[in-house]
Amino acid sequence: MRFLNYGSVNIDLIFTVDHIVKGGETLQSTSLVRSAGGKGANQSAALAKAGSEVFHAGKIGEDGLFLLELLSGYGVDVSHIRRYAGSTGQALIQLDAQKQNAIILYGGGNSAITKQEIDQTLACFTGDDMLVLQHEIVHIDYLITQAKARGMKVCINLAPYDPSALSLPLQLVDLLVVNELEGAGLAGLDESASFSLILETLVGSYPDTQILLTVGKEGCWYGFKDKRIHQGIYETKVADTTAAGDTFIGYYLASLARGYSVEQGLSYASKAAGLAVSRPGAMASIPRKEEVFD
Ligand code: RIB
Repeated sequence: MRFLNYGSVNIDLIFTVDHIVKGGETLQSTSLVRSAGGKGANQSAALAKAGSEVFHAGKIGEDGLFLLELLSGYGVDVSHIRRYAGSTGQALIQLDAQKQNAIILYGGGNSAITKQEIDQTLACFTGDDMLVLQHEIVHIDYLITQAKARGMKVCINLAPYDPSALSLPLQLVDLLVVNELEGAGLAGLDESASFSLILETLVGSYPDTQILLTVGKEGCWYGFKDKRIHQGIYETKVADTTAAGDTFIGYYLASLARGYSVEQGLSYASKAAGLAVSRPGAMASIPRKEEVFD
């Protein structure tokens, strides 16, 4: 199976801070690193590092040209990443002493993608391919409906969540990946709802969609029809949690494409995400397939 990932490409500005800045506060950071990121680009890098055939589609400005070389170096086909006169997407990331992050996004090229570009790219893919999406670009609804009309499988990671997600045609999606906050929002539940209530609500609302609920240190739950699987985390010393979820998704999809079962895929994805959080950075922290697969 080939993967078309239509998703964000960002330049990450990572500020290391003691704590996440509060309203009205001015905070000194102890380091500033500029690196490659974007949930879309990170997931493409993870798919490629895991050995999958992946095409990334998106839009960048002149400031992001270095990202093309980087993604190509990992084995991602970048021929569907278009240029744009404005800036590349930007992510201002605060990384605190507990290695948790807070992120502010500027859409840039991610917000300038057009339906015409989507049509041109989708025309190069078929029902044997899977479309991979996140929630950091425009026209997600159009991408889902057009890809399904071509018979493609669709996976969406509903991150970052905002209420506009409620109007997406998610009942058409084959695999929906959410964390507990995204899942609760989508399920119309309070943030304090139990993981099992979130999972059961989503499985009930989207009966033809496989649900992956990722819950940080608690691991993840898979739900589809009557099947439920829990996968714990891969214990490691945490250096930086940025892109852990992206690594998980890339390795999970790549595992399935290699013929592994859902259980094996969740186990490999958990190992890959564990290795990613043990290292600093987003894309750079994603492990190579030799480190993950037996
Ligand atoms: O998932 C991590 C990513 O989220 C970062 O690389 C940042 O660009 C934001 O999109």
